[in-house]
Amino acid sequence: MQLTNNTILITGGATGIGLSLAAAFLREGNTVIVCGRRESALRQAKETYPELHTRVADLTSTDDRRSLAEWLAEAHPNLNILVNNAGIQRQFMVKQTGVADAFIQENEIEINLTAPIHLTLLLISRLLKQPEAAVINVSSGLGYVPLAIMPVYCATKAALQSFSISLRQQLAGTPVQVFDVVPPIVDTELDQGARKARGQTDMGIEPDEVAKATLKGLKANAYAINVGRVKALRIGSRLAPALFLKIMNKRVQK
Ligand SMILES: NC(=O)c1ccc[n+]([C@@H]2O[C@H](COP(=O)([O-])OP(=O)(O)OC[C@H]3O[C@@H](n4cnc5c(N)ncnc54)[C@H](OP(=O)(O)O)[C@@H]3O)[C@@H](O)[C@H]2O)c1
Repeated sequence: MQLTNNTILITGGATGIGLSLAAAFLREGNTVIVCGRRESALRQAKETYPELHTRVADLTSTDDRRSLAEWLAEAHPNLNILVNNAGIQRQFMVKQTGVADAFIQENEIEINLTAPIHLTLLLISRLLKQPEAAVINVSSGLGYVPLAIMPVYCATKAALQSFSISLRQQLAGTPVQVFDVVPPIVDTELDQGARKARGQTDMGIEPDEVAKATLKGLKANAYAINVGRVKALRIGSRLAPALFLKIMNKRVQK
């Protein structure tokens, strides 16, 4: 797809992969809107990239998702690309006490899965009216092979990948293309506390590398954009699923 003169919403675009995507899209001559919960993070992003448009929204809230869609219709009627990037990652063992309450308090399904689906459904009629449009879902290599210590996170990413496939099937022949960006480990704020606590030394690639691979994939209309080592993970998980599950989980087994 063409990568200039688009109007793009990136959820969770004030930090990490989302911010790198925002910067890359700005460089290509697009209008970019980013949203997130923290006003301070949005302000900081705008200080770095003054052309950015920002909007506070907690995407775990149905009302916030609806009002974001209404605001976009007014303020950015030409919106033609939705990037579902916002997400959280939680590590927990199911045998720990208190996990049931913790899961409800910080529900990964709501932000990682319900929000992208609901936002897509809220915006799809407008995207379909554009000459060219896209939904870009940011999933994870952990959607191909789960890390057992993050059981819900991995499940949401596998489900998001499945949703992208169905969406692409349904929208074939329309102006809306559907992409799935599948990053490996990336050095961002994502669950930093748990990464440090488990002594993770490999912090992964830079978010700018994900942005670079994404734009390259979009230009080439490569619908599943497997980034870096995820390419090998994808093939390995199909050829030898049990082996790759074992390898992936070996270093982090509790
Ligand atoms: N880092 C990795 O290793 C990695 C690997 C594969 C895939 N990914 C995926 O990449 C995406 C971006 O993550 P990242 O690594 O760039 O981490 P990040 O820097 O923590 O970015 C996540 C963004 O999501 C926003 N967010 C979280 N909860 C939200 C909510 N309820 N409503 C609105 N925004 C919310 C955060 O902003 P606020 O806190 O201000 O709301 C933040 O800007 C995620 O979907 C993640 O699963 C990351």
